[in-house]
Amino acid sequence: MREASERAGIENSQMILAYEPEAAALYCSLLPADQGIAKFFQENRKIMIVDLGGGTVDITVVKVIKKIDKLTYFEHVHKVEGGAWGGYHVNTQYERFLEDLFGKEIIEEFKRSNMSNFIEMMNDFEVEKKTLSDELKKVGIKISGELRSQYQLKHGKDIKKTLEEKFNDQIKVIGDKLKFDVEIFRSFFNECIQHIVNLIGKTCGFKGCEYPSAMILVGGFSDSNVVRKAIKGAFPAIKTVVSPVGAVLSVLKGSVVFGHEPTIVTGRVCCKTIGVALHRPYNPAIHVQEKTFKLGGKIRVDDCFEKMFTVNEVVHLGQMKTIEVHDLLTDSQVQSRRKQPKSIEVYATQSDDPKYITDPGCVLLGRITVNPPGGNWPEVVEGYIEMKPGGTEITVRYRDKQTGLITEGQIDFI
Ligand SMILES: Nc1ncnc2c1ncn2[C@@H]1O[C@H](COP(=O)(O)OP(=O)(O)OP(=O)(O)O)[C@@H](O)[C@H]1O
Ligand SMILES: [Mg+2]
Repeated sequence: MREASERAGIENSQMILAYEPEAAALYCSLLPADQGIAKFFQENRKIMIVDLGGGTVDITVVKVIKKIDKLTYFEHVHKVEGGAWGGYHVNTQYERFLEDLFGKEIIEEFKRSNMSNFIEMMNDFEVEKKTLSDELKKVGIKISGELRSQYQLKHGKDIKKTLEEKFNDQIKVIGDKLKFDVEIFRSFFNECIQHIVNLIGKTCGFKGCEYPSAMILVGGFSDSNVVRKAIKGAFPAIKTVVSPVGAVLSVLKGSVVFGHEPTIVTGRVCCKTIGVALHRPYNPAIHVQEKTFKLGGKIRVDDCFEKMFTVNEVVHLGQMKTIEVHDLLTDSQVQSRRKQPKSIEVYATQSDDPKYITDPGCVLLGRITVNPPGGNWPEVVEGYIEMKPGGTEITVRYRDKQTGLITEGQIDFI
C-alpha cells in the first residue's frame, strides 16, 4: 500500500494505513446515540466487529480501554481472523451456475469475445443480489443475446429449449431474462455464509472472545438481509447483532477519523511472529551444523530467526523491542564488507518458535539498508535493532552504538 501511495504522489509522511475493522469500530463508537450502537462502547466491554467486504471478511474483538471526551480507546482481544468470503464470492457462484447451464467453454469464449456484455450481465446480477428480499419468489437476470447465439451455434438449438427439457419450470428463459426460483438464487450465498458463520464461531471460541456485548456488522455485504439473518440465527447467544446505517461507508468514514486520531487503538495482537535474520554463536545443543561458518576464529550459525514479537502477543502502542547486535569484520577475507551497506531483513511466520529464517512458512516482510557510518564500518560493529509498532506498521531502526547514528524503515504490521 505504501509503495502504491508513493507512486500515486502521496508524501510518505502524509500517509498512514488504517485497518478496516478498527476504522469501522471507531466510526461506530462515534455514531449519534439514536442509532443505538455507540452505547455498547463502554469501558471494559468487548465488542466483535465483523467487516463483510467484497473480497474478504475480517473479524476482530476489541475491548474498550477508556473513554476521553468523545473518543473511545480500545485494544484488540485476539488477532484478526479473516477469509476470502466477501460478497464477491456470491457473484463467483453465479458464474459457476452459468457455466453449468451453458458449459464452461462457452462462458469462457463469451468472456473473451464479449467482455463488456458479460460485465453487463454480472451488473444485472449485482442489482438483484442487493435487492433480494423474503417476498420474492422468482428472480430474473438479463442474459446476453450474444451468449445465446454462441450456445445455438455450438449445440444447434436455443438454450431456452435445453432449459425447458432439463428443468421444466424451475429455470427458464423469458424474453431477455433467465428466470429461476429464488431458492436457487439464495443458494449462491450458502457457501460464503457457511464460512462466515464458521469464522465467527471460531473467533468466539478464543480466550477472551466468548461473550462480546455486541456483534457489529459493517461493510457492504452486511447490507444483505440474507447474510444478516443467517448470522443472527447462527448465534442466538449473542443478543445484540447490529449494523450501522450506511454500513458500506463505515470503514471509509472511520478511516478518515483514524487518520486524525491514530492512537485510539492502544494495543494490537500480533497475527504473526516477527523477527530479524541474524547470525549467532554456534551451540551444538540447539543448532544444526549445516548452517555454521567461521568468523574471527569462532563458529557462528547463519540464518537464525531472532524473534522480536510472537504471534498472539498483545503489543501496546509505543512499546519498543530492542536487541543488541554485533559483527566482527577483522578477518582479511571480509575487509571488503566494511564499505558495504548492511541489510537488516525482517521475517514473519505463523510459528511461535521459529529457529531459522529458512524454516517452512517464513516469509521476508521487508528490509532496511544501513550504510556504514562515515563510509566505513569499524572492525567491531556494535549496535541495536529496535522495533516499535506505531499503528498498523512497525518502525524498524538500526542504532549504531558508537556513533549513535540511526537508520530506519517501515514494515507492514498487519
Ligand atoms: N444490499 C446489499 N446486499 C448484498 N450485498 C451487498 C449489498 N450492498 C453491498 N453489497 C456487497 O458488498 C460488497 C462490497 O462491500 P465493501 O464496499 O465493504 O467491500 P470492500 O471494502 O471494497 O472490500 P474488501 O473489504 O474485501 O477490501 C460487494 O460484494 C457488494 O456486492
Ligand atoms: Mg472493506
